[in-house]
Amino acid sequence: MTRILTLETTCDETAAAVITDSLEVLGSVVASQDKLHQQFGGVVPEIASRAHLENIVPVIDETMRRAGILLSDLDAIAVANTPGLAGSLLVGLSAAKSLCVALQKPLLAVNHLQAHIYACKIAFQENPFPCLGLIVSGGHSSLYCCTTPIDFTPLGGTIDDAAGEAFDKVAAMLGLPYPGGPSLQKAAEKGNPNAYSFPRSLLEEPERLAFSFSGLKTAVRYRLVGPGKTTEPATAAAGLSEQEIADIAASFQEAAVDCLVGKSIQALRKTGMKTLCIGGGVAANLRFRQKMEHAVQKERVRLLIAPVALCTDNAVMGAIAIERFNAGLFEPLDLNIHPGLIR
Ligand code: KG4
Ligand code: ZN
Repeated sequence: MTRILTLETTCDETAAAVITDSLEVLGSVVASQDKLHQQFGGVVPEIASRAHLENIVPVIDETMRRAGILLSDLDAIAVANTPGLAGSLLVGLSAAKSLCVALQKPLLAVNHLQAHIYACKIAFQENPFPCLGLIVSGGHSSLYCCTTPIDFTPLGGTIDDAAGEAFDKVAAMLGLPYPGGPSLQKAAEKGNPNAYSFPRSLLEEPERLAFSFSGLKTAVRYRLVGPGKTTEPATAAAGLSEQEIADIAASFQEAAVDCLVGKSIQALRKTGMKTLCIGGGVAANLRFRQKMEHAVQKERVRLLIAPVALCTDNAVMGAIAIERFNAGLFEPLDLNIHPGLIR
C-alpha cells in the first residue's frame, strides 16, 4: 500500500492529510485562519504566511496522529506549489522539502486547481476523466478540458474578478462578516432572488467561454450608494433593514449563480463533453449546487460536484499526488513555487 502525506498552504488554510493509493483518507486536518483575517475583510498575505508557519508543524503532527502511522511509514511527501500566495506556498514547500530530506522520501508536486477537480474523483470513487472542469474559488473561475487528472487545457476564465472574490466583495459591501461567501449565502436564505434584476454578463455570447463579475458588483454598489456618490457601501448598507440586505444578497447570488451555471452549459454544448466536474469554494454554495443540478438534467451529462467539505481548501484533494506517484513524476529538491502559474 502506498501512503502519501499531502500539504496544502496555498491561501489561508493550513492543511495536511495522509492518503492511500486506493484514495482512502487515513487522517486529515484543516486549520482555518478565518478569525485572523476577519477584521480586515479579506486575506492579508503576510498574516497568512505567518500563521502557516505557526500551524504547519502542529497540523502535520495531528494528521499523523489521526492516521495512526509514523512519518517513516510514508512513501512520499506531496505539496501544493501552484497557484497561490507566494509567502503561503513557500511555507508548505519548505516543510515538504524538509521532511523529504530528513526522511529520505521523494517529493511530489500538486497543482491546487487540478486538486480541486480531483476532489470529485475522491468523493465519488469513480473516474470522471475526460471531463469539463469548472473551478470556482476565491482566486479562479475557470473552465478546463481535463483529459486526465494532470493534463488540463484552459478553455476560458474570468476577465475580472473570480466568483469567490465577487461573493467576498459584495458581502463586504453589505456589511456581512468574512468569509463573505458563506455569510452571503446565509443572508440570502431569507431574501427574494428576484427583488433586483442584476446583470448576467456574457451569457448572451455562448461562443465566448469567459466570466465577468465586475458589472454585477458595480450594480450592487449602485443599488447601495448610487452612481457618482462616495459613501462607503457598507455605511449605506448599515441603514438598510435586514430584509433589504437579504433581498440584495439573494438577487446577487442568483445572478452570480446564473452566470456560472449558464456558461458551464454553454461550455458543455460547445465542447460536446459528457461529464462536468466542479470544485472550489464557491461550489459549496447551496443555490449554485441546486441550480447546476437542475440545469444539467436537460443536457444528459454526468455531473460531479465535490461534497461541501471538499470544496473549500483541504489537503485530501492533494490525493491527486497518487497519480503523479504512479506515473513516476517526482520532483527535484530545488522545486519552486509558481504563485500565478497553472501547469
Ligand atoms: O477554494 P477556496 O477555499 O480557496 C481558494 O482556492 O480560493 O475558495 C474560497 C472562496 C472564497 O471566496 C469564499 O467566499 C468562497 O470560496 N465560498 C463561497 C461559499 N463558501 C466558500 N462562496 C459562495 N457560497 C458559499 N457557500
Ligand atoms: Zn482553492
